[in-house]
Amino acid sequence: MMKEKDSHPISFLVTDDRSHTLFSERFKATYHSTQGAVSESKHVFIQNGLHYVHEQLGQQHISILEVGFGTGLNAFLSYVYAKEKGLKIEYHSVEAYPVPLSAASELNYTREFTEAERCLFNQLHQQEWNKAEPISDSFSFIKHLTLLEEFKPSRQFQLIYFDAFSPSEQPHLWTKDIFENMHQSLNTNGVLVTYCAQGQMKRNMKQAGFKVTALPGFGSKREMTRAERFDSI
Ligand SMILES: C[S@@+](CC[C@H](N)C(=O)[O-])C[C@H]1O[C@@H](n2cnc3c(N)ncnc32)[C@H](O)[C@@H]1O
Repeated sequence: MMKEKDSHPISFLVTDDRSHTLFSERFKATYHSTQGAVSESKHVFIQNGLHYVHEQLGQQHISILEVGFGTGLNAFLSYVYAKEKGLKIEYHSVEAYPVPLSAASELNYTREFTEAERCLFNQLHQQEWNKAEPISDSFSFIKHLTLLEEFKPSRQFQLIYFDAFSPSEQPHLWTKDIFENMHQSLNTNGVLVTYCAQGQMKRNMKQAGFKVTALPGFGSKREMTRAERFDSI
C-alpha cells in the first residue's frame, strides 16, 4: 500500500476569480485554470457533471469517483451543491501525491462560507486515507491513496470527475486502457466529465466505448468533454 510522502513541492497562485490554485513543481502544471479555479471547477465538474446527472438523469443519490483529489475543491463544491439540492452523495477520490495539510489549510475556497463549512473542508483533507466516513448526513467520503493505474474500484459510479494533469504532462493517464477502466467503473448511463478536449483523448474514449460530447470549455478553452456509457440491451 502507498504511504503518504511528506514533501510535495508546490507554490500558491491567485487566479482571476481570486480563488487559489497550486503549481506543482513535480508536474510543472497548475491544478486549475489560472482564469479562475473555483469558476472552472463549477463549470466543468459541477454544472456539466453533477448538475447534469441530477437534473437530466433525475438522480437524487449520486456516487462520484474523482481522479485527483488535489486541493479538495471539487469535493467541497460537490458537497455545497448536494446540500443546496438535498442530494445524497457517496464520494470517492483517488490521489497519489497528496497536497500537504499545511498547504491545504491555507487555501481560500471557504472564505465566503460559514465556520461549519470551513471545518468540513479541513475534514476532507484530514480524513484518514482509505477509510470511508460520513462527512455529513448526506455526504459520505473516502480518499484512496493510490496511483490511478493501480486503482481497482470495488463498486460502480454514476459520475466520474476526470481531473488528472493534462495529456502533455501525464500521457499515460489519458489512454484507451485507462478509459476502458473508467468505462467499466461507471453504471449504465454513467457520465465522465473532464476539462480536456484533446483529439487523441476523445478517440481513446470512443475506442473504450464512450459516447463523447464536446461542450463549451471554461475561460479561453474552446471545449471540454462529457463522455457517457450507454450499454446496448
Ligand atoms: C489537475 S490536479 C487536480 C486536482 C483536484 N481535482 C483539485 O481540484 O485540486 C491533478 C491531481 O491528480 C493527482 N495525480 C497525478 N497523477 C496521479 C496518478 N497517477 N494517480 C492518482 N492521482 C494522480 C495529482 O497529485 C493532482 O492532485
